[in-house]
Amino acid sequence: MTHHRHVRRPLVLALLLVAVTALAVPAPAAGATYPYQDPTLPVATRVADLLSRMSLDEKIGQMTQAERGSATATDVNTYRLGSLLSGGGSAPSPNTATSWADMYDTYQRSALATPLAVPMIYGVDAVHGHNNVVGATIFPHNIGLGATRDPALVQQIGQAVAEEIAGTGIDWNFAPCLCVARNDRWGRTYESFGETPELPSEMTTLVTGLQGPTLGGPTSVLATAKHYLGDGGTTGGDDQGDTALSEAQLRAIHLPPFQAAVQRGVGSVMVSYSSWNGVKLHGHQYLISTVLKGELGFTGFVVSDWNGIDQIDGVSGFTAAEVTAAINAGIDMVMVPTAWKTFINTLRAEVQNGHVPLSRIDDANRRILTKKFELGLFERPYTDRSWTSTVGSTAHRALARQAVRQSQVLLKNAGAVLPLARDGNKIFVAGRNADNIGNQSGGWTISWQGSSGNITPGTSILQGIRAAVGPTTTVTYNQRGTGIDRTYRAAVAVVGETPYAEGQGDRTGSMSLDRDDLRTISTLRNAGVPVIVILVSGRPLDIAAELPRWDALLASWLPGTEGGGVADVLFGAAPPTGKLPMTWMNSVSQQPINAGDGQVPLFAQGYGLTY
Ligand code: BGC
Ligand code: BGC
Repeated sequence: MTHHRHVRRPLVLALLLVAVTALAVPAPAAGATYPYQDPTLPVATRVADLLSRMSLDEKIGQMTQAERGSATATDVNTYRLGSLLSGGGSAPSPNTATSWADMYDTYQRSALATPLAVPMIYGVDAVHGHNNVVGATIFPHNIGLGATRDPALVQQIGQAVAEEIAGTGIDWNFAPCLCVARNDRWGRTYESFGETPELPSEMTTLVTGLQGPTLGGPTSVLATAKHYLGDGGTTGGDDQGDTALSEAQLRAIHLPPFQAAVQRGVGSVMVSYSSWNGVKLHGHQYLISTVLKGELGFTGFVVSDWNGIDQIDGVSGFTAAEVTAAINAGIDMVMVPTAWKTFINTLRAEVQNGHVPLSRIDDANRRILTKKFELGLFERPYTDRSWTSTVGSTAHRALARQAVRQSQVLLKNAGAVLPLARDGNKIFVAGRNADNIGNQSGGWTISWQGSSGNITPGTSILQGIRAAVGPTTTVTYNQRGTGIDRTYRAAVAVVGETPYAEGQGDRTGSMSLDRDDLRTISTLRNAGVPVIVILVSGRPLDIAAELPRWDALLASWLPGTEGGGVADVLFGAAPPTGKLPMTWMNSVSQQPINAGDGQVPLFAQGYGLTY
């Protein structure tokens, strides 16, 4: 017996050794050459295996994101680029869902033709629908969704947007913007769900809608919580400016939405161009690594904003010091739209000279690769064309129309002038936002800044009105109001703002309606007809002085392509239920004005009438 045992001991040891080896490097399943290619293994095992096979250049490539206009499919292969993006309006030609899918697949084929065949991930700003694609459903901008107070609806929208994105191959969305817009002068106010942290926090359901319950579903799209941190709190509402707050205030106002997004498993976080007390977020190790990754436990990856690393030292052209500051602060992927070759060479040199530790490069890669594995990119790298027909589908447009309906905020309704009668009525419609898909969609629609006109298929507000009335009602339209007379029973003026995005939308002076809009409204009023003003705008405007001369006021925000939703409320097919997501100033001199600050507004946050 004893002898027997002795004989067996080396065998047991050998078996143990085999078992331990198998744990470290599991045998690949059938069809997979390496363990990382084996979908039956845990993601962490796959990531560790892949990482162990990668060169420094391959790792740096994973951390590099180039813009489609500046990188060819061959570049993706040669430089091992881990990611591509479309900047606002950057689209293949012709701009159709199918050519987007073809473009995506071409890039992906090239990425997969590298020795390790690591798929690339492609990001877009689908901030109110898949808005770079002609024919996509354009949903209301976030300010309107905030007015709905309906997080479940916002989750459904996220799912619909994910389907349209997936139908073009894209895997990653730079949305939602979780900014808490404190000063309406800011050009990105419309990207905010509301001026207090609860609204953006509640609307992180969009993250769940985009990603699905877990990443890896058939239409899962990686979401991005942006822009971290304090983008909506800058002094004067200055885009990319400085947020001057104590740490306690910063945490109380701007951090909660990011906390909520992390709890929902958001896959990426984009860093803000702005500064906190004079220090650029793109180099802020404490806020990125200590607070976001440490304290909040964010396990996804951090992406920089468009050339954001170049703003750290305030001098144009990024330096080695900026690259090192950004990576060491905790940025994992760098959006370097055009100068990506310089970035690659700079980061390689900074690793080789010891300024950036290899452990940081490995951590960034682990985070990025984990999301690629979780998304199922290694198993399903190409476009699933079965979703392509959902782009601009009837079902998605119906959902968008519902969102438009629910986002309308009725602020005044003297003499119950609304709802308008559908039958036997005589209505005059005017204003430059009445029959203009571009204007009612705002910025980030087909192009970065957006533009006026018939830029994509949809229903204008005027078309929605025409479709809503019965055969016994007359609807007359003239943009300037020319031709109105006292025989009309109601005049609808659709006015407000024209498209803008980011800093180009900052309003440093007046926030009133412009002269054209005021003239159109006076023309209608002078006919002695009750005037209903519909404001199509990205934010509250300074209208207190005009309001006494208007019979009704409806805030429509930036509704997108489904103008029928505005008509639904005008004619009472649905009662108005929207509530202000922002405090409405009584005068521009009150900016910034926010709930609880003691100023007396024209309308408080939460205000909204119904019938
Ligand atoms: C914006 C981001 C956007 C990025 C990519 C930047 O200018 O600040 O919100 O995601 O561009 O288009
Ligand atoms: C791009 C946008 C980007 C912006 C930054 C534009 O050219 O289209 O996506 O946000 O530049 O300045």
